[in-house]
Amino acid sequence: MTKFLRISNSYHLGRDNNNCYQLYNKVKGKSYVVTFKLYTILKLFYNEPNTIENVRNEFRKLNIEINDFLSFVRKDQFRDLLVEVVEVKDYSGFDNIFSCSDRKGPTLSRVDFFITKHCNLCCKHCFEGSAPTFKTKAISRKEINNLMEQLKIANIQTLKITGGEPFTHPNIKHVLKAVMDAHFETIILTNATLIDDESISMIKSANIQLGISLDGITSETHDYIRGKGAFDKTITVLHKLSKERIRFAITCSVTSKNWEQLTDIADFVFNKINAEVLYLNRIRPMGRARQSSVVMSDKENQELSMIMTNLKRIYKDKIVLSDDSKIVCKSNSDIIHCAAGNTLLAIDENFDVYPCVYGIGNSHYKIGNILVDGVGKVWESSQWDIFRGQTKLSDLLDCRDCTFNKTCIMKNCRLKPIFEGRSFYSSISYCNKNIDNV
Ligand SMILES: C[S@@+](CC[C@H](N)C(=O)[O-])C[C@H]1O[C@@H](n2cnc3c(N)ncnc32)[C@H](O)[C@@H]1O
Ligand code: SF4
Ligand code: SF4
Repeated sequence: MTKFLRISNSYHLGRDNNNCYQLYNKVKGKSYVVTFKLYTILKLFYNEPNTIENVRNEFRKLNIEINDFLSFVRKDQFRDLLVEVVEVKDYSGFDNIFSCSDRKGPTLSRVDFFITKHCNLCCKHCFEGSAPTFKTKAISRKEINNLMEQLKIANIQTLKITGGEPFTHPNIKHVLKAVMDAHFETIILTNATLIDDESISMIKSANIQLGISLDGITSETHDYIRGKGAFDKTITVLHKLSKERIRFAITCSVTSKNWEQLTDIADFVFNKINAEVLYLNRIRPMGRARQSSVVMSDKENQELSMIMTNLKRIYKDKIVLSDDSKIVCKSNSDIIHCAAGNTLLAIDENFDVYPCVYGIGNSHYKIGNILVDGVGKVWESSQWDIFRGQTKLSDLLDCRDCTFNKTCIMKNCRLKPIFEGRSFYSSISYCNKNIDNV
C-alpha cells in the first residue's frame, strides 16, 4: 500500500535571517542548514501529504535522483521528521489531536487568517468582492496575543494572512510584531501598494514571506485590473523589498488582458525584481470576475496552456501553475476530502472559524470561535465530519457519473460550489465537465 507522509509538526522548514535554507526542530530547539535541493524536496511533504514514489517520479522527469534526500531522512536524528498520514476515514479514537507522529486523524497544520474584507483597491477580477466600502474591525493586542497562544497550542506550521488587503488593517503592525517570536512560517498575501518602510523592516526581522500580486509589468495592464496608480505603488515596494533582500513570491492572475505577456512577466519577475517563485493563477469566474471581461475564452485558455508549459520548461520549479483543473487526483478512494478540516482551517476578523476562506461569512459552516472555544474544542467538532470521510463520491450529484471523476481533483472542493451559490453536493461552474458542456 502507498504510504502518505508529511513533515511532523515538531519541525519548521524555512529560511533563517541570513537567507539560508533551514530545518528547525521545535522540540529540541535545534536548527539544521539544508541545501536548496533538500529544501525543495522537503517542501513537497510540508503542509500536504505526499509519497516517496510520487516525488521520486516527479524528479526523475527532470533527470534528478533523490537518493541524498532518502539518506537524510534515514539518519537517526531525523527518524521523526516524516510521519505517516493515516487515511482520513480512520480518524476516530485519536488521543492527542495535535500530535502528528502517532496520530490517527487530521492534523491542523495551516491557518488562514482572513483579517479584513476591506481593500484600498477594487480589482475587476476579485473573487472576494473586496472594496474600500467594507469596514474593518479593529483587533486588540490582547486578541492577537490570544490568537498566537491558540496557534502555538495547535503547533501549526503555517499562518497565512489574507483579505481584502491586510496592509489596510489599522492593527497590522501589532500582528507583525506578534508573529516575530512565533516559530511558524508566516505568509502574507498583499497587493503591496501600502507597505511602508517600518513594515518592511518588521517583515525582515520576522522573516515573513510575502505573496505579492502583480498582474502586468506595465501600468496599462496591471492598472486595467487593479485601478489607476496601483502599478507604480507596487513596483516601488517591490524594488525596496528586492534591495532589502526580502523573500517574496509573485502571484499573477492570468486574464484575457495579460496572458500574451507572460513570457515578459516571468523575465521581469526573476531577472529584475528577484522574486523566488511566480505563481500563475488562471482567473476563475467567481465574485466580480463573473461580471468582468477579463475571464479568458476557451481558445485563449488553450493557447495559454502552451505558453505555461513552455515557461515551466524554462524556469522549472520557480514557476508554479496554480490550476486545479490540470491537477490529477492520484487517490483511488471514493472518499471526498480536501485540506479543509484535515490540515487547514480559516478564521475571520471576529476569530470565527470556517473550513476555508470560501466558507467565511456562511453561518452554516461556522465552526465555533477560536478565542472563545479554544482551538482544541473547535478542531474536535463533529461539524468537520463531512470534510473528514463522511462525504462519498456517490453523494455528489454531478460528479458521481462524470467521466472525469477518477482523476478530477476539483470534486474534492465542496465549498467553492457553495461560494458560487450552488449546493454542497454540486460541481463547480468551471470544472472540466461543465466547460465541456458549454
Ligand atoms: C483575494 S487577494 C487578497 C490579497 C491581496 N489583496 C492581493 O490582491 O494580493 C488573493 C489573490 O487572489 C487573486 N484573485 C482574486 N480574484 C481572483 C479570481 N477571480 N480568480 C483567480 N485569482 C483571483 C488575487 O489576484 C490575489 O493574487
Ligand atoms: S484582489 Fe486583492 S487587491 Fe484586488 S480587490 Fe481583491 S483583495 Fe483587493
Ligand atoms: S463534475 Fe466536474 S468536479 Fe465533478 S468530477 Fe466531473 S469534472 Fe470533476
